[in-house]
Amino acid sequence: MGASARCDSIGCTSKPYGPARVEVHDESGALVASALTNTHNHCAVAGLQPNTRYTYTVTVKHELWGAGVRWDWDPQLQGLVQRDGVYRHEFRTLPDPMQPLTGPFSFIVIGDFGVGVRKPSTEKKRQYEVAQALDRAVTQYDARLVLTTGDNIYASKRFLLWTGDSGDEDDDWFFTYFQPYRYVLNRIPVCPSIGNHDTRETEEHDDREQVMDNMYLRERLAGEEAAGRASVSPGLFYRFRASSDIEFVCIDTSKEDFFRRGRLYEYPKHREFLEKAFAPKGEDPVRWRIPFGHHPPYCAGPLHHNTRGMEPLIELFHRSGVRAHFSGHEHNFQHSYAGGIDYFVSGAGAKIRRMTPNDFEEARTLSWSGECHFLLVTIDGDEMTVRAIGESPAGELIDIPRRTPSGDPITGPMTVRLVPHATWREPSRAEAKR
Ligand SMILES: [Fe+2]
Repeated sequence: MGASARCDSIGCTSKPYGPARVEVHDESGALVASALTNTHNHCAVAGLQPNTRYTYTVTVKHELWGAGVRWDWDPQLQGLVQRDGVYRHEFRTLPDPMQPLTGPFSFIVIGDFGVGVRKPSTEKKRQYEVAQALDRAVTQYDARLVLTTGDNIYASKRFLLWTGDSGDEDDDWFFTYFQPYRYVLNRIPVCPSIGNHDTRETEEHDDREQVMDNMYLRERLAGEEAAGRASVSPGLFYRFRASSDIEFVCIDTSKEDFFRRGRLYEYPKHREFLEKAFAPKGEDPVRWRIPFGHHPPYCAGPLHHNTRGMEPLIELFHRSGVRAHFSGHEHNFQHSYAGGIDYFVSGAGAKIRRMTPNDFEEARTLSWSGECHFLLVTIDGDEMTVRAIGESPAGELIDIPRRTPSGDPITGPMTVRLVPHATWREPSRAEAKR
């Protein structure tokens, strides 16, 4: 395959497989919306109701698409096999952004996952097993979307160099994204953030173009920049509401050459976006404003620690009433509590660093775990529940074992409650040095 063909097989700009028709049905089976395209591999369907369950069909060249038992990659057998994998062609629209929540709202957070399932899992790379559990959690808990905390796709490492498949070409995405999550991607949206392995910060190739294309971000964010709800190119900042009670804010924390290796949230245009996204609480009230990105403001290591230069962001979080923040980067789980905000590090969606972190004090750690996992988060009124779920081979979702900094085991979900916000204080000198 030529270089250009490797970049136009999947995603928004991919070559069409033929004339396609999408039909959407409500729960009674009535056709409620349809769309046609002769020129693209995607189309937008308009006229759907918020917070409503639908089923859909896709017909390409008069053939029903994605029907019947699928061929799935088996890392042990090193081949595609037919077992019981079938697509559930269904989805539920997000709640009306202008209306309050009427029941619990669940979502998934996963980070540092794109190592691929081509080869059998090892002790340190377990994307296949985590993806299987994620699939089950989405179904069992009616999770409505996936937030990623970055490092969506890694380059393969050979001879200590980042080489080969990097993520900047489509076929790098088959084993790392489209195959492991295929039964989730067809029914709930994935809302990514950008990690250092998705840019040239750490790898030779920049994957941003393919992240934008393969996750249809240009189309999804069309018009959002003008409305103050996104800031892109270069960079990936956006915000959206799931009811009038929840707003998610994606923050791009990567370093870029064009910005003299500064982190993108300091770039003037993006800073302007963030000022609006994290307006003082009274100006733009929303109960749960949830920032997510790759680099953690608080992290106990062992490899990565509190990210330097995030103090201005933390100030914005405080003034706008943020109560919970999600990041990745360190390949373990960590829960910190600082200045009235719960910080969750979830960076072991595939890669795992099992060594004990080494700076709990600076990171204000409450608990941690060196097991692979994703987070299942449920918001119900004034309460957010966070479960860190690991491999669940028997089908029942299993919370990973956590430990306090002093080594005591701790179990059960973590809870964040909306309470009057703690007063922000200046960081100490030791904190500021981080
Ligand atoms: Fe990272």
